[in-house]
Formats: sequence, structure tokens, C-alpha cells
Amino acid sequence: MKIVVLTGAGISAESGLATFRDPDGAWAKHDPQKLATPEAFAADPALVHAFYNARRAQLRDVAPNEAHQALVRLEAAFGRDFLLVTQNVDDLHERAGSKDLVHMHGRLRSAWCRACDTRHDWDDDLSTETACPACGKTGLMRPDIVWFGEMPYRMDEILRALDCCDLFIAIGTSGAVYPAAGFVDIAANAGAETIELNLQPSDGTALFNDYRHGAATRIVPAFVDELIGRP
Ligand code: OAD
Repeated sequence: MKIVVLTGAGISAESGLATFRDPDGAWAKHDPQKLATPEAFAADPALVHAFYNARRAQLRDVAPNEAHQALVRLEAAFGRDFLLVTQNVDDLHERAGSKDLVHMHGRLRSAWCRACDTRHDWDDDLSTETACPACGKTGLMRPDIVWFGEMPYRMDEILRALDCCDLFIAIGTSGAVYPAAGFVDIAANAGAETIELNLQPSDGTALFNDYRHGAATRIVPAFVDELIGRP
């Protein structure tokens, strides 16, 4: 059985990272058009850097939870027949031990130099004065995050996996952002079973064959145990 898992901010909520669209979420408090678009960065790079610097710094205070760990067990059980795609820019999946992982919306711990098009692992703050370690230019380093209006990473690989999967699992995502919100349809058209694991019904629940609603740290380990135990 080939499995594709898509995760969203809900899987990291119980680790202490706010989601985007819940009442205490980032986009409930801030206007994404002022923080998460190339135009916003061009207009006020210091503001955008401050937002992502705070989020990058927060990663030092959080740890993966039981839901991240359950997906490591799932990968160990299914090996090459398993692909984990995350919309999350945190590093909790890799810190839990996930290996075959696609960060389709980029990573907080990566910086991208727009002058020489190189990417660099990055733990510190970024600013308009930051020099690129490769070309030395300042002022052109940006967070390596896919902003609204930009193309998510590694889409060919994701679409190939969706086209031949038998099971598609969406975890902790509101289904509000495309192309990720359309993955369930692609998998269903390929004949896959589809299941939503989310705190509550999402915008897209009706698109799935099945669903489990509850906290990720409870429902994800339970569902993974069920799958690994299936004959
Ligand atoms: P959202 O904030 O839109 O949705 C989070 C989902 O997680 C909601 O449906 C919640 O009900 C659910 N949730 C909250 N706590 C949970 C818990 N403990 N267990 C299980 N589910 C829980 O976040 P995403 O769908 O990830 O893009 O948002 C998609 C994209 O929109 C993000 O990647 C981000 C944002 O703009 C970029 O930054 C590029």
C-alpha cells in the first residue's frame, strides 16, 4: 500500500505553535497580505523579517509531539511506499525523525539569497543587513518560505506520489490553501482511500471518504497503530 500524508499547522498546535486560521492563529492576528507575499517583503522587509525571526526563534522552545512521532513509525513500517508532505515551515517532523519529507511551503530554518540563488541553513535572525555567506551581498537574503502567489516546492514529486497512492491522509489542515487543498481530489481520482484527521470538520471534510476528529496527539497515534496492525 502506498501512502501520502499531508500535514498542516494543526499537527504542531499541541507542541505550542499557533495555527494560522484558528482564533489565536497568526492570520487571525496579522494580515497575511502584509507579511506573507513578495509585495509585502518588497514594501517593508524589516517587518517581514521581524515576523519570521520571531517564529524561527520560537522553534528553540518547542519539541515534536506524539503525532509527529507516530508518523515516524508509519514511515518505518511502509518505507519507500510512504511520503510525508508538510505545509509546515517548522522543523518538528525532522526533529521527530521523519526522513522522506517534503516541505512544500519552505522552512523557517533556511534562508534564500535572491542575489545568487543559494539557500543556507539558518538559525539566527535575518535582517536587511544580513550578508549572504556565498556571494557576500547584503539586503537580498529572505526567509525561505513560499509566500502567497509563489509556487510551492517539489510539486512534480508530490503530484507523482498522489497519482499512484492507495491512501491519502490529511492531518491538521483547514483545506483553505491551494494547491494543498486539492490533493484530496487528485488522490481520490487516482483511486485512493482518503481520510481527514483534524480537530474538527474542516472546509474540505466532505471531500474525504472518512474522517476522525479530535486532537492530533490522540487520533494520529491511534490511526497509525490501526494501519500498522492491518493485515
Ligand atoms: P490552518 O490554521 O489553516 O488550519 C489548521 C487546522 O488544524 C484547522 O483545521 C484546525 O481545526 C486544526 N487543528 C488545530 N489544532 C489541532 C489539533 N490539536 N489537532 C488536530 N488538528 C488541529 O493551517 P494550515 O491548513 O496548515 O502557508 O494552513 C495552510 C497554509 O496557510 C500554511 O502552510 C501557511 C498558511 O498561510 C504559508 O505560510 C505559505
